[in-house]
Amino acid sequence: MDYQNIYIEEEDQIAVITIDRPKKLNALNKRTIEELHTAFNELDEDTDIRAIIVTGSGEKAFVAGADIAEFADFSVKQGHALASSGQEKLFDLVENLSTPVIAAVNGFALGGGLELAMAGHFRVASFNAKMGLPEVSLGLIPGYGGTQRLPRLIGRGRAMEMIMTAAMISADKALEFGLVNYVVSQEELLPLCRKLAGKISNNSPSAIKQAIKAVNAGYSYDTDGYAHEIKAFGECFGTDDFKEGTSAFLEKRKANFKGS
Ligand code: COA
Repeated sequence: MDYQNIYIEEEDQIAVITIDRPKKLNALNKRTIEELHTAFNELDEDTDIRAIIVTGSGEKAFVAGADIAEFADFSVKQGHALASSGQEKLFDLVENLSTPVIAAVNGFALGGGLELAMAGHFRVASFNAKMGLPEVSLGLIPGYGGTQRLPRLIGRGRAMEMIMTAAMISADKALEFGLVNYVVSQEELLPLCRKLAGKISNNSPSAIKQAIKAVNAGYSYDTDGYAHEIKAFGECFGTDDFKEGTSAFLEKRKANFKGS
């Protein structure tokens, strides 16, 4: 795919996807969602890539939401399709990706922007970041998983307040709420995300994939997370990564994981 609204940089087995529509504060239009869908799938299939960082271009925004201009005249049917295809193509895809996804929240993360960050496996923000789900101010509700993921991350009461007031919270408040794991300066944001991704990339990709699925299983109402964990734990014993990890420990050397 010929990318117009995103670009990808790869270094040391880490890919950085930058959403690049700075004049529109990186708002997610249909094309951007398609491009992100393709990019996440391709990077996930690339066994050399051990972690993905997603961020926004410019100094102002991570992503200021879904592109309001694109859905302003939508019907009920189109609104339903917008949420359902977006959730499937991007937000559920990211949440269930085998490769860890870190959201580097470098500015406004509003609506679909915060929903994208929340679909990621964890988040790091810069001091200037502002996060919110302002949809009710437009006569909408969050449609890309925000009503589900925000309460799970910060608790029901805080999420209800954020959704109902449509207000933005600061990076420090997001840290206090556990919505982001760290808050640093803009200059330090990508280096810190790369450092965390680097730590991840030393570990077994096949085990990380199982860990992501096991953690996510606990948030799925039709899956017994503990039963899932037992099965996944058992499956790890059949992988080359397990043999390599345990041998390296016993031989007092650094493990060289292949990911299978
Ligand atoms: N969809 C489409 N365009 C958007 C957008 C969005 N979600 N967010 C920002 N933009 C566009 C603006 O229309 C503007 O375009 P223009 O220069 O062609 O007029 C440009 O990005 C810059 O935004 P602007 O509003 O001028 O910047 P600001 O610094 O004054 O305000 C925000 C920043 C984030 C507070 C404001 O842009 C905003 O409220 N955006 C919408 C947030 C939202 O409701 N998101 C949820 C959508 S469901």
